[in-house]
Amino acid sequence: MVHQREVKLANGTGIPAIGLGTWQAEPGELTEVIQEAWAAGYHHIDAAHYYQNEREIGTALRKTEVPRDQIWLTSKVWNTDHRPERVGPACEQTLRDLQVDYLDLYLMHWPIAFVPGDDLLPRDNKGEIKVDDVDYKDTWRAMEKLVDEGKARYIGVSNFTVKQLEDLLKVARIKPVVNQVECNVYLPQYELVDYCQKHGIAVTAYRPLAGRVKVGDEKPSSGHKTLREDPVLSKIAQRINRTPAQVAIAWLLKRGIIAIPKSSNPQRLRENLIDFDLTDEDAAEISKIDVRQRDCNPANMWSPSLDYLTKSDEGTK
Ligand SMILES: NC(=O)c1ccc[n+]([C@@H]2O[C@H](COP(=O)([O-])OP(=O)(O)OC[C@H]3O[C@@H](n4cnc5c(N)ncnc54)[C@H](OP(=O)(O)O)[C@@H]3O)[C@@H](O)[C@H]2O)c1
Repeated sequence: MVHQREVKLANGTGIPAIGLGTWQAEPGELTEVIQEAWAAGYHHIDAAHYYQNEREIGTALRKTEVPRDQIWLTSKVWNTDHRPERVGPACEQTLRDLQVDYLDLYLMHWPIAFVPGDDLLPRDNKGEIKVDDVDYKDTWRAMEKLVDEGKARYIGVSNFTVKQLEDLLKVARIKPVVNQVECNVYLPQYELVDYCQKHGIAVTAYRPLAGRVKVGDEKPSSGHKTLREDPVLSKIAQRINRTPAQVAIAWLLKRGIIAIPKSSNPQRLRENLIDFDLTDEDAAEISKIDVRQRDCNPANMWSPSLDYLTKSDEGTK
């Protein structure tokens, strides 16, 4: 596989350190985005059934004639497919949509099950998400079978806390190789990253640019701080002739973290595939930034009762 930078998984396999995020790509735009990304040098795509664009990604990959062994494909089993008997068919659907025989990495998207069905966000009449009583350890056992069957080379988790990882590691026959979590300058996740790295679990940072980074005249959502306007990142970026987004990604890579920025813009796609390292001094200065915000919070997205999922000492079953 040809790629720039890698993060090593526990068994020594390299995963391209920068991948292309695909959540919220507008319908129809991924064909061009994937062509641009491949031309720019991306060898890693982060997909998920939940994003409802895997079919489009599959078509784009085929059209671009990307050799299967030169692209790292990650996908995720959604919360409505946690029942063990649903995990295999969910993975097979993703394989069909992406038009591939195997995934490089299949993640459990969240450590929480929703009632099964076509509705990806099933809600009761009060608007609360309908949770299903499935232990994520049982979902994991079904994911282990996918490795045995050759449908996924590796399996991992997403949005798991330290406590949940400890709980899973006690029973896992196959260890998770990755924990994909929201992580950026404004949500550094020091304790979680430290735990993962000590236990041979690589960390992938989603929302590495804190999501709605201000673009042109776009107004950021109310109260949301944009990394692009951060004074420390801007100052460092100006001095080293880079952009604040690049500095934010470089800070993650410096910590040994994989980053999966999403962009549908050819120039920003290239910008995000960085080719430089931060100095220790610049990285230390960024680490002193004390703004804190979390975008993907189940309590806000789904139900206040799911607040426990983001607390580091709770959330196990
Ligand atoms: N596991 C999970 O639960 C989970 C949750 C959320 C996300 N994810 C994954 O992580 C990926 C990335 O996270 P995200 O999409 O939420 O947020 P993100 O990558 O932090 O930010 C994406 C936003 O930043 C803009 N942007 C990209 N590059 C930029 C640059 N160089 N300068 C200025 N603005 C830039 C994009 O706009 P343009 O497209 O216009 O450039 C888009 O609005 C997702 O696409 C998805 O694959 C996983």
